Amino acid sequence: MLTAFDLLPTILAAAETTTSPAQHPVRELFIEVAYLAASVLFILGLRGLTRPDKARRGMQLAAIGMLVAVLGTLIDFRIVDYTWIALGLVVGAGIGAAISIWMPMTAIPQRTAISHAFGALAATLVGISHYDYITRVLGEQVSGVDMAALGFEVMFGSLTITGSLMAFGKLQELLPSAPITYKFQNASNIGLFVLAVLMFLFLVFTSSDSASHAVVFYLMVLVGLAVGVLIVIPIGGADMPVVISLLNSYAGLASSATGFVLGNNVLIIAGALDGASGFILSILMSKAMNRSFTNVLFGAFGTPAAATGAASTAGLSVRPISVEDAAAQLAYAREVIIVPGYGMAVAQAQHQVRELAELIEKRGGEVKFAIHPVAGRMPGHMNVLLAEANVPYDKLLEMEEINDQFSRADVALVIGANDVVNPAARNDPSSPIYGMPILNADQAQSVIVLKRSMNPGFAGIENALFYDPKCSLLFGDAKASLSKLVAEVKTA
Ligand code: TAP
Repeated sequence: MLTAFDLLPTILAAAETTTSPAQHPVRELFIEVAYLAASVLFILGLRGLTRPDKARRGMQLAAIGMLVAVLGTLIDFRIVDYTWIALGLVVGAGIGAAISIWMPMTAIPQRTAISHAFGALAATLVGISHYDYITRVLGEQVSGVDMAALGFEVMFGSLTITGSLMAFGKLQELLPSAPITYKFQNASNIGLFVLAVLMFLFLVFTSSDSASHAVVFYLMVLVGLAVGVLIVIPIGGADMPVVISLLNSYAGLASSATGFVLGNNVLIIAGALDGASGFILSILMSKAMNRSFTNVLFGAFGTPAAATGAASTAGLSVRPISVEDAAAQLAYAREVIIVPGYGMAVAQAQHQVRELAELIEKRGGEVKFAIHPVAGRMPGHMNVLLAEANVPYDKLLEMEEINDQFSRADVALVIGANDVVNPAARNDPSSPIYGMPILNADQAQSVIVLKRSMNPGFAGIENALFYDPKCSLLFGDAKASLSKLVAEVKTA
């Protein structure tokens, strides 16, 4: 049975003066224009993502770019049968739609990890099939330049597959989230990576005719897969966002190399954009946590040993507060600064936060939101949630903008944030988070913290702020506590 996909090449062929597969000028022109348009849309999309108010539009542009790139690829004259492609499109679109509808916001990090695993799998399989096609099917030589691109694609692709799967497993708690460490781990991992690089050099500088060439090629794939597992297991679950964005960058580089192998411009450009932005993001995230990049990758952060720099709170006690008292403080405050953190995301309390902020403003108070660059578990986590709840963008202030304003605030309302307001980062050189820039919530006249228990945050350490005499804790799930606060402020 003929499908629209089967008809597409026929329609396009009719528009061309030649039926020779080597000369399809009209089609080639369409493809190149589509790829150029897609590349421009990707760049505009990335640019949009630099500002919360433009981020949604940025994502839409990037999605249109991807659609244009896919359409451009579908008219390639080398496609002889659309059956499998159509099947892939239906299955892929179905999975994508299901993920976007049902996956909760809090699971975005692991969703990103699994997407990278599939992206890298695609790049690796393309590389392997291309190698097999040239060497075995055509019986031809792979040139040094082509082999360099192929080897790069397959090496980075294979380590990204398993690395991303490990990151997914840790974040989804299918694997132990704590770092798995053993003696000489860093040395053996580096040794294995060097082995992969040596194999890569062998492949580039020896003839692909030699019997050992294919053996080394496939061995390199296996070593790459092993490296992916071994470099991720010593990294704690909570550092996975940095790892994921680094693996994102590897997947981008692998795709870019695929573009060179296939002579596909959109893959080269999109892969390079992905590679560069992922790398920059990893560095920015490490910086915001005041950790060196190497410390994240090789420091096994989150082990019991790392979590010993607790603030000394022996003999101190916290002050629980009732909903009524907290609501009274908020209702009569002139300036309130809300500090959202990971707990707000877990509780999905963003809508109640917006409602409370609106109520306070209606009563004549001013409310601002203090956004720490690594609050939550992924870059922009708080911005995305608050934007979803329609909190105006001009109310979201970055750390540098808001930090001086805390001393003027009547109340700092800390919603499920912990490490990002921990004064130990300022005062305690023995703390694992010492040096991390924090929000000055402790400088407000009064601090109210919404959390469920005295459990620590990501860094696993005590927070002296909670024991400060001007701090009180409203225990409970943030969403439930906020709903009660909203009801109470309404009647205050
Ligand atoms: P955390 O320090 O992780 O603290 C979150 C707090 O939320 C916990 O104390 C928890 O206490 C509370 N909580 C959890 N579920 C809650 C709920 N349903 N209702 C109310 N409270 C709840 O969060 P943070 O202050 O946002 O700091 C983020 C941390 O993650 C930083 O250390 C940062 O370095 C790290 N990190 C961030 C990123 C990015 S890119 N954002 C990447 C890697 C690492 P209870 O369990 O007692 O409720």
